[in-house]
Amino acid sequence: FQPKRLAGLKVLITAGPTFEAIDAVRGISNQSSGKMGYAVARAALEAGAEVTLVSGPTCLKPPRGARTIPIVSTQQMLDAVEAEVDAADIFISVAAVADYYVLNPSESKIKKDAHILTLELAPNPDILANVTSRAKPPFCVGFAAEAENLEEYAELKRRRKHLPLIVANAVQEAIGTDEVELLLLDDAGKHTLARADKLTQARRLIAHIAQIYNAQHP
Ligand code: C5P
Repeated sequence: FQPKRLAGLKVLITAGPTFEAIDAVRGISNQSSGKMGYAVARAALEAGAEVTLVSGPTCLKPPRGARTIPIVSTQQMLDAVEAEVDAADIFISVAAVADYYVLNPSESKIKKDAHILTLELAPNPDILANVTSRAKPPFCVGFAAEAENLEEYAELKRRRKHLPLIVANAVQEAIGTDEVELLLLDDAGKHTLARADKLTQARRLIAHIAQIYNAQHP
């Protein structure tokens, strides 16, 4: 028996990559399957939450019971999050957001020739930092994929983005794999979630979030 630890709460989740158009058919994106974000959505539903999932392009089936909002670009993800965030009690930012967008994408397909093609890239807004800097942010959880100094870099990110909780994982083992080890960093310290499949990790993460959230909202 699993207690409905998030019953009555609204949880907003971002998942998958975002995609930035170069022209009508080409674009730049991040390597992200969306599996972790979708697993978190499923675990939150199991815990009794009302779930809104803002998802970039993935091959996954939308979790049954969640309201899924499909988007493509980072700006679209930001717009969807801004439209939904005021209603949310908890925001979990799992998406691998593209750090740059292409300035002046072509509306038609660019003809290929032998010349060098130069793209101008402009930085995208940080969706999560945008949410945490609001007057009344929901309880915010970030993810940090790091190639080295996992704990140190994730903790710096947690402080920079003003997050009560960040979930860190090593990029080398995260991309495309089904089993991950996660490190949770919060105000009370660190907590390792031993290697397991993503749904198991998502359930453990949701239990951890519920524990902190419910202690803060008796
Ligand atoms: O990319 P970075 O390592 O800064 O990502 C850390 C956290 O910030 C993740 O939770 C990610 O979803 C979020 N993020 C975001 N908007 C961005 C970049 C990252 O919401 N433009």
